[in-house]
Amino acid sequence: MKRFAVIGQPVAHSLSPRIHAAFAAAAGIELDYQALAIDEADLATRLDALHDEGWAGFNVTLPHKQTVMARCEDLSEAARRAGAVNTLTRTDSGWQGDNTDGTGLVRDLARAGVVTAGQRVLILGAGGAARGIIAPLLATRPASLVISNRNPWKPEALSEAFADLGTLTPRTHWALKGDAFDLVINATSAGHSGPMPPMPDELFADGAVAYDLSYGTAHAPFAEWAKAEGARVVHDGLGMLVEQAAASFARWHGVTPDTAPVLKALR
Ligand code: ATR
Repeated sequence: MKRFAVIGQPVAHSLSPRIHAAFAAAAGIELDYQALAIDEADLATRLDALHDEGWAGFNVTLPHKQTVMARCEDLSEAARRAGAVNTLTRTDSGWQGDNTDGTGLVRDLARAGVVTAGQRVLILGAGGAARGIIAPLLATRPASLVISNRNPWKPEALSEAFADLGTLTPRTHWALKGDAFDLVINATSAGHSGPMPPMPDELFADGAVAYDLSYGTAHAPFAEWAKAEGARVVHDGLGMLVEQAAASFARWHGVTPDTAPVLKALR
């Protein structure tokens, strides 16, 4: 039987084994999918050893999503653009790196009936998570895509890096004052450490939607803020997690899973 795993540190909390097991059960595929804790210092040697042992593929989570790129003999366009890899697929001589996070977001937005085409879209945060969703969002042709951050240089750099794909307008959070958006996406990691950073009022247009890449307890500060600011509906990132897993599963097994029952079971 082919062996798969999610690799990270820590990794015991990961929902990926459960999600992949559910997809496999529904598809009638026998699956060995584990969670492997790998320290940063050991990543290179462990990946070589796992290749020797015949493992077929990995989902990659923190802290390896960026560093694992150097261990890939080939990178997909999505991974290159994202500057991160969340899916490794075995080749004869090494690992191919892909990134399904952005696809996961776009599919989950579609599932939730959230339109981005022709809409004013704001991304809060300009770190690794934000970088992974820019190209897929630009491809949906929003009326505008704005990215804001505490540190002003990161949005500027991302705007330049994606200029060939479309206009990404860089801002600091406070410079958003006076603008309104139809969709506000939280890509900061603020919820993991505390409350939302101070933001200008009235960022949400009438009927605007809020979407958080985080889920679980890290989602609470953004959800609270977005509701207080008048968002019509607030989504967490659990659906995106399931959708990115589905894209990896399809890549490995050639079967596109039905995500709805798995998302329902996780909730
Ligand atoms: P990730 O891969 O989750 O994006 P990251 O690359 O470390 O992690 O980026 C973290 C993002 O969350 C950054 O946009 C960071 O803003 P700064 O670049 O200005 O630091 C943002 N962030 C983290 N903690 C925050 C907080 N308490 N308030 C506001 N933004 C925060």
